[in-house]
Amino acid sequence: MQIILCESAEHVGVRAADIIEARVRQGPAVLGLATGGSPKSTYQELIRRHREEQLSFGQVTAFTLDEYAGLPPGHEQSYYSSIRREFTDHVDLPLGQLITPQGDAPDLVTEAERYDAAIVAAGGVDVQILGIGANGHIGFNEPTSSLASRTRVKTLAGATRADNARYFPEGDVPRLCLTQGLGTIREAKLAILVAMGENKAAAVQAMVEGPVSAHCPASVLQLHRRAVIILDPGAASQLSMQEYYREAQEFNDQLDRSPTRPWL
Ligand code: F6R
Repeated sequence: MQIILCESAEHVGVRAADIIEARVRQGPAVLGLATGGSPKSTYQELIRRHREEQLSFGQVTAFTLDEYAGLPPGHEQSYYSSIRREFTDHVDLPLGQLITPQGDAPDLVTEAERYDAAIVAAGGVDVQILGIGANGHIGFNEPTSSLASRTRVKTLAGATRADNARYFPEGDVPRLCLTQGLGTIREAKLAILVAMGENKAAAVQAMVEGPVSAHCPASVLQLHRRAVIILDPGAASQLSMQEYYREAQEFNDQLDRSPTRPWL
């Protein structure tokens, strides 16, 4: 795991965008996209680079992480609508290359299997962008999710439904969702998790410094071959090894500027 400590949410977005841009400029790429508040500064920075620095997403295929069950793609609160509003409608990613699970599919079990297979058929995800729930979930893999799980139907935790109630003024937060599994997410070639705010601090500490455990699903990233965790001061506030992460980051930043490591 690589831990990057940033001074602000905007800085988190810049560091994440640096990594994504480096991969997108290499040629055809498959991105995995999270929705919600955490990646907003990343998407805003990518949109800015698209507008001002000719960063093109024309050769990108994007798979979203999850979707509420029962919501058609056009529903205002669907994650399909949300990712279009927050990111893809503002760049040149062709709409046909934005792929999401169909929350209103008549057979959700088959839809989940189809979605998982579509990711594999696309050659897998090159860069997966993740947020983390206050309860440690990634995607909608709630605590006790199998660390080997594939895309499937999940029941949302009460805490998650309460966190997301702000987006549903009528109070009708769905109970079920489709989510990429932890095993699916682990197959991404690079995972970037962005987190901001003190309400994420305990989950971030458990993910980075706690045991690998289904109790904190994000801790599966300790088993990932290339996971980068980018944090603002609030989200990092409960980490016990901040000094080490800073030292390691300074050293990594020097390496990253080396022509032998064009990736970051
Ligand atoms: C969203 C997703 C979730 C969120 C998490 C944090 O596609 O998969 O895991 O990343 O619930 O949500 P925010 O960023 O809104 O705090």
